[in-house]
Amino acid sequence: MSPARRASAAFTRLHGVAPAGVWSAPGRVNLIGEHTDYNDGFVLPFALPHRTAVAASPRDDGMLHVATVGDDGAVQQASPVAVAELEPGASTGWSAYPAGVAWVLRGQGVTGGANLVIAGDVPAGAGLSSSHALECAVALALLGLADRPADDLPQIARWVQRAENDFVGAPTGLLDQTASLCCTEAHVLFLDVRSFKAGQVPFDAAEHGLEVLVVDTRASHSHTDGGYGARRAGCERAASILGVPALRDVDVSELDGALARLPEELRPLVRHVVTENERVLDSVELLRAGRLAELGPLLDASHASLRDDYEVSAPELDVAVDAAKAAGALGARMVGGGFGGSAIALVPVDRHDDVARRVFAAFARRGWTTPRIFTAVPSAGAG
Ligand code: ADP
Ligand code: GAL
Repeated sequence: MSPARRASAAFTRLHGVAPAGVWSAPGRVNLIGEHTDYNDGFVLPFALPHRTAVAASPRDDGMLHVATVGDDGAVQQASPVAVAELEPGASTGWSAYPAGVAWVLRGQGVTGGANLVIAGDVPAGAGLSSSHALECAVALALLGLADRPADDLPQIARWVQRAENDFVGAPTGLLDQTASLCCTEAHVLFLDVRSFKAGQVPFDAAEHGLEVLVVDTRASHSHTDGGYGARRAGCERAASILGVPALRDVDVSELDGALARLPEELRPLVRHVVTENERVLDSVELLRAGRLAELGPLLDASHASLRDDYEVSAPELDVAVDAAKAAGALGARMVGGGFGGSAIALVPVDRHDDVARRVFAAFARRGWTTPRIFTAVPSAGAG
């Protein structure tokens, strides 16, 4: 059953009536452009077919009642909370995501109570943005219940970012929310995070006999435990030493000069961000020229940079990437914030089984949990 039907059926079971509406938003992978978003740089994500749905109805007592339903139909209910009393720190765990969105939207005059029932099939904690899919779906649901327009997607992405930063406590950028809200089927989204100018770039790997495989390593990651924030702070310090608003303003042609002006410990961070921005631009150029099959070396270089310079990879990600490459992937890299989560590989369709087998075997040899592997096709954004 689709997440939307599961959410709707569970809503009806719990509340005795059908929901007023169902809103949903997808997870994402980022083809390339990692840890560039909070440096005002470039990203190139696409939406996954996996989605989080929120079945919702208004309540007239100003309370927020939230429940989430698992694959097996098991329901977890969060403690009800008055929208007027929501404050950062008051909700923890999964219910902080919907509460955070309600808190932000309250500041925009969306103050009514609601019953929300969530169901999703975005793997959680896999670096595929299940949390942002949830937040974006909740934002659309609360705006929809309040009869508020939901057409300014960049604005909604910024609200969702505020929920994540100031309520949930993860200092993340704008990549995930924007991807979930703005991606379209069969395209990657080329986003300039500074100007918020976005372009849809056609992406049809199958046309080239290729596919994007996702390897969810099942190694856990967290963006609230310091590693992510420390790198973000390092980038901000480097930008301030260099006298630029953000690392986006350092051109790759000026990189050596910039590195020479920085303390040793900040150089690898800057080298990653500056070269990664360039790799996004190079990738877009290849895609626009119909040369999708040549993306492999850029993906590889991105992974090496994230592993060696930015130091956000994990043994499971490196093993997945190396095994995929050894079995014939044209290129592979970790995606998302890192420290665990997922990798992607650009794979000839006829090597799919070899790649999967090799990755499974590499994990089994090390006694690691069996990863989840699937083909990712660029899918529709939220709605
Ligand atoms: P990612 O966003 O990469 O999947 P995070 O660790 O940032 O990883 O977010 C995962 C968290 O989001 C889960 O632990 C849970 O708290 C919340 N979440 C995601 N999907 C759901 C869902 N369907 N129902 C309830 N909470 C969810
Ligand atoms: C996380 C974060 C994004 C982005 C990414 C790395 O997914 O939420 O904002 O910084 O890591 O590119």
